[in-house]
Amino acid sequence: APDAKKNGELVQDYNVDRNTSAQDCVYTTSNGVPIAHAYESQRAGEGGPLLLQDHHLIDLLSHFDRERIPERVVHAKGGGAHGFYKTTDPLDDLCLAEIFQAGKTCPVTARFSTVGGESGSHDCARDPRGFSVKFRTSEGNWDCVFNNTPVFFLRDPAKFPHFIHTQKRDPSSHLTHADDSTIFWDYLSQNPESVHQVMILMGDRGIPDGWRKMHGYSGHTMKLVNKAGEWVYTQIHMKSKQGTGFITQQDSANYSPDYAQKDLYNAIEKGDFPGWDVMVQTMTPKQAEELWEKEGINVFDLTHVWPQKDFPLRKVGEFVLNENVKNYFAEIEQVAFNPAHMVPGIEPSADPVLQSRLFSYADTHRHRIGANYQQLPVNQPQVPYNMANFQRDGNMAFYNQGSRPNYISSIQPVSFRERSVDLDRVHGNFAGNAVSFLSEIRPEDFIAPRKLWEKVFDDGAKERFINNVSGHMANCQKEEIIKRQIAIFREVSPDLAARLEKATGVKGYAGISDMKFNGTHNGMSKDRAV
Ligand code: HEM
Repeated sequence: APDAKKNGELVQDYNVDRNTSAQDCVYTTSNGVPIAHAYESQRAGEGGPLLLQDHHLIDLLSHFDRERIPERVVHAKGGGAHGFYKTTDPLDDLCLAEIFQAGKTCPVTARFSTVGGESGSHDCARDPRGFSVKFRTSEGNWDCVFNNTPVFFLRDPAKFPHFIHTQKRDPSSHLTHADDSTIFWDYLSQNPESVHQVMILMGDRGIPDGWRKMHGYSGHTMKLVNKAGEWVYTQIHMKSKQGTGFITQQDSANYSPDYAQKDLYNAIEKGDFPGWDVMVQTMTPKQAEELWEKEGINVFDLTHVWPQKDFPLRKVGEFVLNENVKNYFAEIEQVAFNPAHMVPGIEPSADPVLQSRLFSYADTHRHRIGANYQQLPVNQPQVPYNMANFQRDGNMAFYNQGSRPNYISSIQPVSFRERSVDLDRVHGNFAGNAVSFLSEIRPEDFIAPRKLWEKVFDDGAKERFINNVSGHMANCQKEEIIKRQIAIFREVSPDLAARLEKATGVKGYAGISDMKFNGTHNGMSKDRAV
């Protein structure tokens, strides 16, 4: 492997054959037989029909017919690169993961994306950005499957497919909703917990200036466990060393559809390698209870952020992207990031959206790539031990775990590594309300968006926000929907609502206390049973 060991101490198997030059290759069929001439289809005489025996042509066409795999159902447009991570400030007091011990390093692959658009869509869309990093640690792969915004549109995972469908093609006409925002606002006006993310999306931060100039956020609360079995909640941040930058709605029209991808690729080709600091916020379980009691912020609710003044950022390490991919399909289209890929010392919290994601990604990977997708070079764990997991056979099983017994045998036993902490202490017990109204709308939902409007947005940002929203609403064909969304914005700020009323010419409802939301409990109504 020509590039082996370039990025850290572990061998990158995906480098095998990546660098073979065209001159070093012989033209063959898929079974390796050299073909003297690429264009000589066999025919039954001059001017006659083709022959079924022409294996070269049939081999070529039938593989071509199968070139496409399904694109990602979300985050289909994206690009990425390889690099390496290094721990600069050990976190061993809080986390037992080997990768967070002093000086530890590992190879990484990162992929950035937009969310709603198709694979060929514009990468300067007003949309959150995906921010995924696969850390190939010596204890297995740890995937950070983050966004560039610290919050999300929902806190009940059952809403995700519905929300995403508002951005997909119409099931009947197959048209996009690029010039008809009705259903986008219909969803949002029925699901007010989205308003914090909507304010970020429609504000100046809605279109990042490429992928290098954006931060990444876990959004979800996770857990760090140390060697003593003690744990804290954490939020993970990736801070861009390039700073942040954004594009206005007007300017975005002048950018090429692959602007962000080109920007990353060209920077790496020039040797201007982008980097990010990996940082954590941490919180004890007791602090989490206090935050809930005092400020109504539930750490399992990713529509909220943790205040940085109370929970400051602590740097752990940094990663750099220093190597463009050689083969986009093999190294980016087939890379499979999964929030369930965690290493010992890093655990999920009970955040219901995170819990659902722990299921969803491997499920889609088995469908999108195939049951043995983990065996593809870019997804393979790079661990210093042989792996035995008895996941054998299936399509394309090229690492089939040899001749070992096909069960956990006492005759030829595999070895087990001791767990370093007592997991019962870490998990605690989950007794409590099995059913809760995850999405119930509460006054706390409007506090952070209100701060955005009153404290963060200056006059110019407010004006652009109003222009972005009213411009987008101009394509909304139902006035009722606009009235509802204005009522939601009125809960954020009467000033915001009044300006929007002026810009749209639509008088919104007075507030949300009399409103009903499709399937979402309105905790601000007089009748909480709605
Ligand atoms: C991609 C599901 C919420 C970040 C995906 C994919 C699915 C999915 C099916 C396609 C994966 C693939 O084909 O490889 C869900 C569900 C969610 C959810 C069911 C909520 C219930 C979130 C949240 C975040 C996020 C909250 C960020 C905090 C991403 C990213 C990708 C992605 C970054 C692209 C991964 C890549 O680059 O390959 N999601 N998602 N998702 N999702 Fe989610």
